[in-house]
Amino acid sequence: MNKIKQKGEKIVYIGMSADLIHPGHLKIIREGAKHGRVIVGLLTDKAIASYKRLPFLSYEQRKEIVSSIVGVSEVIPQETLDYSSNLRKVKPDVVVHGDDWKKGIQKEVRAQVVKLLKEWGGVLVEPNYTEGISSSLLNKALKEVGVTPSVRISRLRRLLDAKAIVKGIEAHSGLSALIAEHTQIEKKGVVREFDFMWLSSLTDSTMKGKPDIELVDLTSRIGTLHDILEITTKPVIYDGDTGGLVEHFPYTVKTLERLGVSAVIIEDKKGLKRNSLFGTAVKQELESIKNFCEKLAVGRNARISEDFMIIARIESLILGKGVDDALKRAKAYIAAGADGIMIHSKDKKIDEIEEFCKKYKEFGSNTPLVAVPTTYNHLNETDLEKMGFRIVIYANHLLRSAYPAMVNTARAILENGRSKEASEKYCMSIKEILTLIEGNHEKNK
Ligand code: SPV
Ligand code: MG
Repeated sequence: MNKIKQKGEKIVYIGMSADLIHPGHLKIIREGAKHGRVIVGLLTDKAIASYKRLPFLSYEQRKEIVSSIVGVSEVIPQETLDYSSNLRKVKPDVVVHGDDWKKGIQKEVRAQVVKLLKEWGGVLVEPNYTEGISSSLLNKALKEVGVTPSVRISRLRRLLDAKAIVKGIEAHSGLSALIAEHTQIEKKGVVREFDFMWLSSLTDSTMKGKPDIELVDLTSRIGTLHDILEITTKPVIYDGDTGGLVEHFPYTVKTLERLGVSAVIIEDKKGLKRNSLFGTAVKQELESIKNFCEKLAVGRNARISEDFMIIARIESLILGKGVDDALKRAKAYIAAGADGIMIHSKDKKIDEIEEFCKKYKEFGSNTPLVAVPTTYNHLNETDLEKMGFRIVIYANHLLRSAYPAMVNTARAILENGRSKEASEKYCMSIKEILTLIEGNHEKNK
């Protein structure tokens, strides 16, 4: 602490995220100020992302706001949801927190605070939680307002700073993007949700009934992208296939960045691109390292802000060229300025990818590594994180699950000569579909 405690002065500690300041926060601070000099332990992005969505405002922005609130004397970072380390440093006489933390994930955090305070005779003051207003409600309202392209772009880098592993799922339409945006589960008080959306060339092409061979052109892909961006706030990683002709790639980069896409991934193949999961079963050819590095450089020169990431995808393992070739390429692409490396594999066995990861770590580069574990799907995110991956993409699962469901319905109608059975067995109710999208129903008239 840089401020010296005045004689007789009491120190009050208040831990908070303070993303969206509301009267509930002010009440807690006012209460704290009654007891002494208030030090706010402001949760860092990392601390917040450990149990809920990344805050809208950065740590520095939140610090500036909280420091200006009457009654706050000092703001220090709280690096974890747990208060212990800061409490031991500050040794406050009083801790103030709304009584809402008696339940849910914060229950254990509270118990630890109570235990620690006893060591030096500190007390816990818990004003009533302010009902009807909360950060979660404001978050929901903000999601409805939407997001600007530049804020959306920078969220991917912020997520990478805040989380050990960042996960995204494929979206191929407005509806699938809504699933990626809103699906949440709670496990042991920690809210789990996807961090970003992957605009897969495979599912975007399949959705249009077309092969994944760069036939669906940029204009058409951007149509899908618009549908997704219009109704979501999460970052998007765009599957840029080979990036096309080197002369065309700068235009793709500029367009994606202008729209608010956070990253493009391009793969080091040339000629007619085929889906990687075919492997060597079809004719596919690797691009030379020199040409691919040139494409990366041209893309980097075209972007306006460093927030937009150009990620190089290595296809050596897909085409049976081995780990050494993949490593050679990774080194060259990092030197050419790639903001991330995606190592792809279509093997269920992970020998090659494990070896790649081990040797990649030896580079000592902090260029994030991306996994698309479609075939080696027995690995979970913790396994992938241990191997050194920072980004995981579930590349095709929403469409792959939707298609068989639709075929079942079509078959059931043919089978029965009516829709009763299909409706009862496979379909959501009419009421559900009418109320699924806001703006469709009574409430919003
Ligand atoms: C995609 O989702 O289009 C990809 C990943 O590029 S893969 O299908 O595995 O090639
Ligand atoms: Mg693709």
